[in-house]
Amino acid sequence: MNITIIGTGYVGLVTGTCFAEMGNTVVCVDIDQEKIDNLNKGINPIYEPGLEELVSSNVGTERLSFTASLQEAMKCSNLFLIAVGTPESPNGEANMEYVYNVAKEIGTNLDCESVIVNKSTVPVGTADKVSAIIKNELEMRGEDIPFHVVSNPEFLKEGDAIRDFMRPDRVIIGTDSEYALDMLKQLYSPFTMNHDRLITMGVKEAELTKYAANAMLATKISFINEIAHICDELGIDVESVRKGVGADSRIGYSFIYPGVGYGGSCFPKDVKSIIHTAIKAGVEPLVLDAVEKRNQRQKSRMFDHITNKYGLDLTGKVFAIWGLAFKPGTDDMREAPSVVLIKSLINSGARVQAFDPVANEEAAKKFPQEWISDNKLVLLDDNYATLENSDALVLMTEWKMFRNPSLSKMKELMKNLCIFDGRNQYDPEFMKKNGFEYKGIGR
Ligand SMILES: NC(=O)c1ccc[n+]([C@@H]2O[C@H](COP(=O)([O-])OP(=O)(O)OC[C@H]3O[C@@H](n4cnc5c(N)ncnc54)[C@H](O)[C@@H]3O)[C@@H](O)[C@H]2O)c1
Repeated sequence: MNITIIGTGYVGLVTGTCFAEMGNTVVCVDIDQEKIDNLNKGINPIYEPGLEELVSSNVGTERLSFTASLQEAMKCSNLFLIAVGTPESPNGEANMEYVYNVAKEIGTNLDCESVIVNKSTVPVGTADKVSAIIKNELEMRGEDIPFHVVSNPEFLKEGDAIRDFMRPDRVIIGTDSEYALDMLKQLYSPFTMNHDRLITMGVKEAELTKYAANAMLATKISFINEIAHICDELGIDVESVRKGVGADSRIGYSFIYPGVGYGGSCFPKDVKSIIHTAIKAGVEPLVLDAVEKRNQRQKSRMFDHITNKYGLDLTGKVFAIWGLAFKPGTDDMREAPSVVLIKSLINSGARVQAFDPVANEEAAKKFPQEWISDNKLVLLDDNYATLENSDALVLMTEWKMFRNPSLSKMKELMKNLCIFDGRNQYDPEFMKKNGFEYKGIGR
């Protein structure tokens, strides 16, 4: 099949590459000319395990190519997947301008019966709006070309994106068009071969399914974080509670790990967007509001623990931070809890020495440049180097490389043997036996 992907970010690039890997011919389009130039030079815009190799082998076989011209790309296909960003507006609503701009451009250039697939996470009713925009453009051109707008939300996770895409739990297709459904069944057949993972439904149901799924996962995280806060106040260990709760097969262990709050480009904006949808529909979002509030609170929990020990004035104190990305396996710093913590520490007078195996470059963009030039924030290439003369280590992202650190090196380098473990990666008793003061989340 000949496919055009519009928006070559995390979702667009992974989607396009995986479809090319299955023998399709894919053109990925982006308005960011620099990104396209880099991709054409073999430079990957994002860190995603396994992606670089897959992009390069599919470019090599000419099944995958990149362009900044949608008009050009549209000449070669009648299947368009929209994967542009839907970031948060100041009022919490999803900002739909990128999706609508693409719809307008499709309407301007459409020349044969086509299927337009919304892969971006979009509010209920978006497919109708996209249809109206395309129809309007066609009318202005005096054309009557049939087209079908489908909702096909994406469920991949950064850090595991290729595996998720290649072996999806489910593929959701929201459409009432037989023409579109036939095309999408064909498109996804290589990914659903061993058993049927395709779930078809109405367009609006598909649009809401994506938000409901992300809101459910965010709810599990906020729930356990609240339980962890209760454990802190009662002086008991949330990790025992987590294991006891997760053992119930109706609940399970996934997404009930206490931590420093969820971040990334999806959960925070998607929870706010579904809150907006609820309010617009006249529903008071009692649960969703609480999920969001707990997450805001959670992002300052590590700072609270630090100031409980050191007081509110942190002048002269040095903090080592291990992990900056919002989760392991990615360099994505959008809404990363580490940003909230580092800003609080530096605004309270502290210096920060931080390390992330892949996100240092992205992290540097998140802070005032004078913090970096004045050495208030130092981004280092080695996790142990951050510990030099430090008053505490704060673990913010659970990269595997941090799981079993050299305690002797830590003891040599740190001024105070103190660990704030934002991801409950270490055994408190073991750390205490080895002379470290330890504070985790809810333990
Ligand atoms: N990142 C994830 O893990 C993930 C997972 C599932 C769903 N989603 C959803 O998928 C969508 C895309 O997310 P992302 O993380 O890939 O975003 P992203 O910001 O990484 O990429 C979006 C890309 O679209 C491009 N773009 C914007 N307007 C364009 C236009 N008119 N024509 C061509 N390109 C244009 C941007 O330049 C950018 O490169 C969002 O709605 C998001 O919520 C993301």
